[in-house]
Amino acid sequence: MPLQWFLKYRPKSLQDIENQDDVKKEIKEWIESWLNSKNPTSKAILLYGPPGVGKTTIAEALARDYKLELIEMNASDTRNIMQIRSIAEQAAITGSLFGVRGKLILLDEVDGINSREDAGAIDAILELIQKTKYPIILTANDPWDPSLRPLRNAVKMIELKRLTKYPMRRILKKICDAEKIQCSDDALDYIVEQSEGDARYAINMLQGVAEGYGKVTAETVKELVRKKDRELDPFEALRDIFWAKYYWQAKNAATSTQIDYELLMRWLDENIPLQYEALEDIWRAYDALSRASIFLSRAKKGEWDLLSYVFDLMGPGVAFASLEKKKPTYKAKWVKYQFPQYIQLLAKSKENREYLDNLLRKISNHLHNSSTKTLEGILPYLVQYYKKYKDKIDKELELTEGEKKIISTLSGEKPSEESEASGSRAGKTGTRRYYRRRS
Ligand SMILES: Nc1ncnc2c1ncn2[C@@H]1O[C@H](COP(=O)(O)OP(=O)(O)O)[C@@H](O)[C@H]1O
Ligand SMILES: [Mg+2]
Repeated sequence: MPLQWFLKYRPKSLQDIENQDDVKKEIKEWIESWLNSKNPTSKAILLYGPPGVGKTTIAEALARDYKLELIEMNASDTRNIMQIRSIAEQAAITGSLFGVRGKLILLDEVDGINSREDAGAIDAILELIQKTKYPIILTANDPWDPSLRPLRNAVKMIELKRLTKYPMRRILKKICDAEKIQCSDDALDYIVEQSEGDARYAINMLQGVAEGYGKVTAETVKELVRKKDRELDPFEALRDIFWAKYYWQAKNAATSTQIDYELLMRWLDENIPLQYEALEDIWRAYDALSRASIFLSRAKKGEWDLLSYVFDLMGPGVAFASLEKKKPTYKAKWVKYQFPQYIQLLAKSKENREYLDNLLRKISNHLHNSSTKTLEGILPYLVQYYKKYKDKIDKELELTEGEKKIISTLSGEKPSEESEASGSRAGKTGTRRYYRRRS
């Protein structure tokens, strides 16, 4: 995989960080209070704000500018969380004993800590903050979770705002120059607008367009946005598979969709009998699907190269289960595809049913239509687009945690008991895990 530009062009020094002048000033004063006196203004700071605005970058640049050794840990990595204390605290103590190079401790993404599963994690961090001999930076996208309250009280909070238009353009322009690619102004404007102040998103988009189309114009940018949206659409994926006339079309449809493969499997499962009429065709399609499922479970045990067979079976396997297709006169039947019925499974628990009802009501009120229409016509899209527009949707619909949980379950997470038993974390990271990432 080529190096990701957002890493390649990550500012090395605070000087090169755009748009966050107040934050830079405040953080410098803080670190200098640490270095110049035994009485820092506060032992730890919490940098918080939306993704891709420079939280991690600023912490790293600060360490470099002040020649501090950075001890960096992702706080959301549950396996590490209990080590945070021992490693970081120990580092603090031995460092102070031997007077070697100063250190800076970065606990990245503390809002990723699952307070239920890692009950001790927050306490461990609090204790670390109390005892540390070194400055500590915490970061979070969303610091307002009730479980983080004790942390909020123990740190100095510094907010980072979304990047504004011109700084964002400068970031992109610099990369265009460095990579020697032609980028039209209106293309950059469009990327900036789409990015909503998230530099990581903007840079990834720039790279995607440049590598995919060779030139960055308003047209190619829009084309990529359309393509990405389409790849999130389960109805499109089904149609592309069921209607494929060639093997490669079906395989392409299965591999290029951004819908998670387990979720795609459920969509196929639900819709095979709607698309195909002949019993034999249906039988062959399910046979392919069940073999896909077997390969998938083996792939997930570590034999990842089997994934290719999973796509062969889900794509061409399902597509060419229909013998009808071989007839020259064949024309695919237009059917209205259905949202997978596991939604009913979900609705079995009273609690979930209430969340789901509330969710449907909120959406329906918003769009002025009926709950049934929302369930069939809107919810499937919402689920797919949720990840991309999470902040907006959360805010607009004022979603509760329970309602968010319903959306993530529908987006492919297992019903909650199972996912908790297997030790996976609900919410953000869970959803991320169920989406295939493109290399
Ligand atoms: N203020 C900024 N100035 C310049 N580049 C930035 C800035 N913020 C983010 N970036 C770019 O976006 C990428 C992601 O930023 P990062 O600091 O990881 O975001 P987060 O706030 O999510 O921690 C960086 O690698 C860098 O390329
Ligand atoms: Mg970060």
